[in-house]
Amino acid sequence: MADNGNGSGGAAHGVEIELRNLTKKYPGQAKAAVDDVTMTIPAGEIVALVGPSGCGKTTTMKLINRLIEPTSGEILIGGEDARRRPADILRRHVGYVIQQGGLFPHMSIAENVSLVPKMLKWDKKRTAERVDEMLELVGLDPANYRDRFPRQLSGGQQQRVGVARALAADPPVLLMDEPFGAVDPITRGRLQDELLRLQEELHKTIVFVTHDFDEAVKLGDRIAVLSEGSHIVQYAEPAEILARPANDFVRGFIGEGGAMKLLHVTRIADVDLGAGVTAKATDDAATVHSRLAEAEEPWAVVLDKNSSPVQWASIEDLDGKTGPVSEYGTPITTTISGRADLQAGLEALLGSDTDFVPVTRRRQYIGLVSLNTVQSAIQQLREQAKQAAPASVGEGSA
Ligand SMILES: Nc1ncnc2c1ncn2[C@@H]1O[C@H](COP(=O)(O)OP(=O)(O)O)[C@@H](O)[C@H]1O
Ligand SMILES: [Mg+2]
Repeated sequence: MADNGNGSGGAAHGVEIELRNLTKKYPGQAKAAVDDVTMTIPAGEIVALVGPSGCGKTTTMKLINRLIEPTSGEILIGGEDARRRPADILRRHVGYVIQQGGLFPHMSIAENVSLVPKMLKWDKKRTAERVDEMLELVGLDPANYRDRFPRQLSGGQQQRVGVARALAADPPVLLMDEPFGAVDPITRGRLQDELLRLQEELHKTIVFVTHDFDEAVKLGDRIAVLSEGSHIVQYAEPAEILARPANDFVRGFIGEGGAMKLLHVTRIADVDLGAGVTAKATDDAATVHSRLAEAEEPWAVVLDKNSSPVQWASIEDLDGKTGPVSEYGTPITTTISGRADLQAGLEALLGSDTDFVPVTRRRQYIGLVSLNTVQSAIQQLREQAKQAAPASVGEGSA
């Protein structure tokens, strides 16, 4: 269970959110906007809600935030019934970010960020300090920005202020409703990276609404694919959804290039790499030659004294030779970190003049990646997903 210490020291970590048979029917509407939704959002994770326009995403967020009341069902935040909490306490526990930051145009940046602290009656000094701290956290120089007005900021900067405002009272839960929908793709990419960086520090529970599946894959620890009435069609980790979409509706969301996206969510170090034949720089050429012949491998990877891959030595070049193998090697020009994703591995392979690229962890050799590695990794991910599939499908799927 995540620490929910809301003290003055460390930030409040995320808490679990549980929706139980949650239903919202707007007056005069034939169908419920949110129809009997049950889901658990684990503490400290980013859960991306993806679904078509009008499927009930915003309504779901407003229900969690109690901007609107459910027709029936329950919401538990950190195990407590959200409806039993006074609204101001709830606001302290739930930060809300919407498109363009949802900033009030007539208020300065500082006034916008201090809305919740003021509501909570923090004193002036504490509030001002918090405003500066938050602006810094989201990469805006407080001295430069606190007294400006929203219209004097770019879309991306306004969005940052929106995040700063949502985090001001240090809520364990952050709701983000298509927050980066209105900014250009480059700024969006940057804001996404910053959110991930913030999350590494803050460990909030974040519900992130988007209609962009790629954004969901990038940000989500899990993704819930929703259809009309906020029905959960599939709720699983990105790799699992990509490897085994529950049905055509999910497939439609993934769009083109599902296999490439799968590569993007898988780390090289996590797949079966080829061991290759390795040699120390000081090993004798003749011995390495016979090891290669025995293993029926054309190349040896020569490692330096720190176990870093430095040279390729081919069986032909070593034929009939003696002395240190390093005298017959050619430099390795491309290596890749095991922390990189398979897509980067594939790109390294395509850009390299060898069929194998050495993989390192803290510069030390851990294996070889090849086209074969990538292909069998995809097959394996599909297999794993197949086994896990029943648990990953929501009740809404037919
Ligand atoms: N205040 C409202 N009154 C009546 N119907 C609404 C209201 N807000 C949303 N709806 C309807 O509820 C459904 C879900 O809307 P919404 O939650 O905004 O979807 P999304 O955010 O996924 O686009 C839609 O059919 C929408 O027209
Ligand atoms: Mg919406």
